[in-house]
Amino acid sequence: MSCTSLTFRRPISDDWDRVMAVMPEWWGGRDLRGMLPHVFFEHFRGTSQIAEHEDRLLGFLVGFFCPDHGDEAYIHFVGVDPTWRRAGLGADLYRRFFALARADGRTVVRAVTAPVNKGSVAFHTSLGFSILPGDAEVDGLPVTKDRGPQGDSVVHFELTLDRGGA
Ligand SMILES: CC(C)(COP(=O)(O)OP(=O)(O)OC[C@H]1O[C@@H](n2cnc3c(N)ncnc32)[C@H](O)[C@@H]1OP(=O)(O)O)[C@@H](O)C(=O)NCCC(=O)NCCS
Repeated sequence: MSCTSLTFRRPISDDWDRVMAVMPEWWGGRDLRGMLPHVFFEHFRGTSQIAEHEDRLLGFLVGFFCPDHGDEAYIHFVGVDPTWRRAGLGADLYRRFFALARADGRTVVRAVTAPVNKGSVAFHTSLGFSILPGDAEVDGLPVTKDRGPQGDSVVHFELTLDRGGA
């Protein structure tokens, strides 16, 4: 089955329960649910996405257009069902977000991830994101200290949107 057979839609409030139910497994046992409270499924639906096949949740993206930075958009969370990884779904969700961001006049997309999340680092760099300078290094990656859950370090990504492609 390819991504073309999936349904993409805006989240509704009830999707939050479905996302909460899969997050620890999809994040390999890391429990980041506290960073994605229900408010994101109330007030950021227009810039977020659900990917599903029939009734099965296969992926989601939660993002928003930054109110304080008129040229920027921010991707807060993306997740893909482990059985669907490396099939282009994560990239598809990002491209859909990029299209929305462009249409709103946004030229820069930002995201962060934990340095331990090597898959996420590889995913973002493969999509053309740059890793921004930080104030420390973890495993050779520039990180910013004390910005993640429980004071962890985070890697900051930035992508400048071109007019058509990325
Ligand atoms: C990160 C994540 C969303 C990627 O989703 P995906 O659908 O597997 O990504 P894609 O298939 O679109 O990958 C696009 C490219 O990114 C790179 N990539 C993605 N995952 C990778 C991994 N684990 N290791 C190395 N490169 C990877 C590859 O270059 C890939 O292209 P290729 O498969 O043709 O080589 C998914 O692994 C996931 O849900 N991880 C757990 C949640 C998470 O960490 N989210 C990000 C932080 S919020």
